[in-house]
Amino acid sequence: EWTDAERNIIQGIFGSLDYDDIGPKALFRCLIVYPWTQRYFGGFGNLYNAEAIQKNERIRDHGITVLHGLDRALKNMDNIKATYAELSVLHSEKLHVDPDNFKLLSDCLSIVVAAKMGSAFTPEVQGAFQKFLAVVVAALGKQYH
Ligand code: HEM
Repeated sequence: EWTDAERNIIQGIFGSLDYDDIGPKALFRCLIVYPWTQRYFGGFGNLYNAEAIQKNERIRDHGITVLHGLDRALKNMDNIKATYAELSVLHSEKLHVDPDNFKLLSDCLSIVVAAKMGSAFTPEVQGAFQKFLAVVVAALGKQYH
């Protein structure tokens, strides 16, 4: 399923990733660009405008948690579906997150990583990274019916 080149690219991206910076930025972007995603974070305090979202520490911390959630896929690249079975149930049955939103968040993450990497985010790197995220998104959506 994965070529050696893809594995190297994905391990390389995560190996040099600053989780505490990129995680919050990806989640902020998702909540600002797609405001309806805010509805799931009603208990997180003030999400009144973009500035408030970026200052919200609970959102910041959750962005880091979500990005670390991808470590599971990284460590189990050949078994991503099973790896996310539990998180898929949580997001569907308990949180009732519309699965379309997984793709939106993953696109925001791609944009933030691209901005960070600049010219190193070549088409080949983008291709491998988005393939990885697409597999995660599919796995998270697996328990929905
Ligand atoms: C919780 C990962 C997408 C909403 C979580 C947790 C993880 C996680 C690891 C913590 C689970 C726990 O506490 O055991 C991910 C990953 C995603 C993703 C890897 C996609 C790449 C989304 C999206 C939304 C969302 C798109 C909504 C728009 C939530 C909410 C919680 C949660 C509301 C509970 C937060 C709390 O009350 O502490 N997610 N998530 N997630 N996620 Fe996601």
